[in-house]
Amino acid sequence: MTEENGEDRAFVTKDIPLVISKYAWPITGVAAVIITGLVIFFSMGNYEHVAKGGRFVGPDKCKQCHQEQYASWKKTRMANSFEVLRPGQKTQEKQMAGLDPDRDYTHDANCLPCHTTGYGLVGGFVSIEETPEMAGVSCEACHGHGGAYVKTVMDPKKPTFSTAVARSAGLVYPPTENICRQCHNERSPFVGMDYKFTYNERVKLGTHEHYHLKYEHGR
Ligand code: HEC
Ligand code: HEC
Ligand code: HEC
Ligand code: HEC
Repeated sequence: MTEENGEDRAFVTKDIPLVISKYAWPITGVAAVIITGLVIFFSMGNYEHVAKGGRFVGPDKCKQCHQEQYASWKKTRMANSFEVLRPGQKTQEKQMAGLDPDRDYTHDANCLPCHTTGYGLVGGFVSIEETPEMAGVSCEACHGHGGAYVKTVMDPKKPTFSTAVARSAGLVYPPTENICRQCHNERSPFVGMDYKFTYNERVKLGTHEHYHLKYEHGR
């Protein structure tokens, strides 16, 4: 409302130049304060949203405290799943799926959601040039964006947090079949109609080795 009034008056003053000298500066001043206020208000809103759990942080962050899982994950096909989008990779498989093996799919928005982490989301994959650390299927694709739980819950000095608290900060643990099916579904060119995703078999093959946690977090 106030902004509109400001605009109206500014418009009117154009027709009555005499009034400008008297009121234009105070009105502009008030409008500027209001607009600045609104900008700050809304950007703070965004910031709060991000801090509450929207931001992806990348696997290097998790590595700081989970070296074993990281080392083991790094060897999986999923960790390197961005590479198969390059031309000349998996040529036979691509041909069989009706894709062009000589084409560069590394910037193809049809492929990136499943071959990268957090595509299109805050802190997530943008492009291989800007966010190389988010290429491939990494920790947060299965465990949820770490922006909040890494900062607020996973304290190595106080590692006895409950899983419920971590979950409320965005942790997905344990990841369930539905998480896998976000990508392991028939929208993938490699997943035929007869495709079966058997969670119990896959989970043994593909995530990472599991290491004993020190504390019982009470799932
Ligand atoms: C500052 C250190 C730190 C960082 C960074 C960190 N974690 Fe943790 N995390 C911990 C600690 C400490 C535990 C509890 C370990 C234990 O009980 O042995 C834990 C436990 C976990 C658990 C098990 C949760 C439970 O309730 O049992 C998962 C899953 C996990 N972390 C995933 C991640 C992921 C994914 C990232 C990166 C986004 C990450 N962590 C980053 C310190 C960290
Ligand atoms: C809905 C998610 C999804 C989309 C979209 C997607 N993929 Fe995939 N892709 C997967 C999954 C899941 C696999 C692993 C399939 C398996 O082994 O279970 C995969 C596997 C592959 C492989 C390896 C195949 C093999 O047999 O080794 C290539 C190459 C590939 N995708 C390329 C692409 C390209 C190129 C695009 C875009 C045109 C694309 N994908 C789009 C999910 C997806
Ligand atoms: C963000 C998308 C995404 C999510 C989430 C995801 N995957 Fe994958 N997965 C892929 C892609 C893409 C490939 C193919 C990688 C390649 O061939 O280079 C793949 C490959 C695999 C493979 C290797 C295939 C093989 O036969 O060796 C296994 C196993 C697997 N995924 C299991 C899982 C499980 C279990 C989950 C859930 C806990 C899961 N994936 C979640 C995208 C995803
Ligand atoms: C493809 C999905 C997937 C990816 C990617 C993934 N995890 Fe996991 N993670 C799992 C599953 C599934 C479990 C086992 C849950 C259970 O015990 O039922 C698990 C368990 C864990 C645990 C508990 C302790 C253990 O070893 O079982 C930690 C800590 C953890 N992951 C950290 C990480 C970190 C760090 C990364 C990246 C370097 C990562 N995870 C990548 C699926 C994934």
